[in-house]
Amino acid sequence: MKIKLYELRPDEQAAFSRAAAALPDGYSIDAVAEPLSADNIDALAGYEAIVITNKSLLTADIVARLQQLGVRYVSSRCVGFNHIDLPAVKAAGIRVCNTTYPPYGVAEFAIMLMLMALRKCKPAIWRMQVNDYSLEGLLGRELRTMTVGVMGTGHIGRAVIDYLGGFGCKILAYDPYPAQDLAAREGVEYVGLDDLYRDSDLITIHVPLMDSTRNIIDAGAIAKMKDGVVLINVSRGELVDTDALIDAVESEKMGALAMDVFEDEGGIYHENRMNDIISNRKMAYLRQFPNVLLTNHIAFYTDVDVDSMVEDGIANIPAMVEGRCTTEL
Ligand code: COI
Repeated sequence: MKIKLYELRPDEQAAFSRAAAALPDGYSIDAVAEPLSADNIDALAGYEAIVITNKSLLTADIVARLQQLGVRYVSSRCVGFNHIDLPAVKAAGIRVCNTTYPPYGVAEFAIMLMLMALRKCKPAIWRMQVNDYSLEGLLGRELRTMTVGVMGTGHIGRAVIDYLGGFGCKILAYDPYPAQDLAAREGVEYVGLDDLYRDSDLITIHVPLMDSTRNIIDAGAIAKMKDGVVLINVSRGELVDTDALIDAVESEKMGALAMDVFEDEGGIYHENRMNDIISNRKMAYLRQFPNVLLTNHIAFYTDVDVDSMVEDGIANIPAMVEGRCTTEL
């Protein structure tokens, strides 16, 4: 079976070579740096499987062409699957999976953003560059004294809860499918979403982007939160209504905001756009605030996670063929 991997980056090359060498007999793989698109899809003639990540948008049109070309397996080597039209893929009879690389890199990043937001690191670092060593406005808060709401207790939310346990804060968790072991854990309480909004000093989002979760944090949700609430988003930009966030920061309802993802970040994040005119007004506006910290979708970007994404992403093709893939969607 011929496999084509899209979006290969230089930092993935070593893992790609290892995973290619580890494929069972009868499989071969080659790779290109570009995402899969209407412009290059015809080069897939003769391939039965593809490995993609989030820039390869599997729209209904692309899926229809994949079906015509005889592609039967799609492995997406990231956790989020909002770039895939799942109903179209399933209707086309194409098998599809994502991957669950170790969640600790993303969880560590979320904890880092929490601490940076609470200790006002953005203005502190800015000020150091201009010889302003004053304390004014830099009074921080301690995680230990706070109630932290964790939305979503899948792999990543659970790892965040594990780390938060070491800080001694009270943890409220929300998930439509609560995990029994977490529910039984001291210091963790599953609550409804409204209760989580009402009682949390800091809220961190770890839910997948789906129709049911798009803009889950909107003006109505924010109105239910505590004054001065701190919000952390390392999941997907479209989980929040960015206009509502801007209003909340401007009105000081929201005390701090840290996001590794942004609505319509495609074509911006992971690119060098230094000399371009970028048209994402919300991003340009939001990032000016001293209490808003934006990073460029790098929570996943660790040595461990990159290796795992590539190796699992490729190994998942024979795993799907043999019916032993644990992350089929
Ligand atoms: C994910 O795995 O879902 C990520 O956000 C990483 C990124 C490469 C898409």
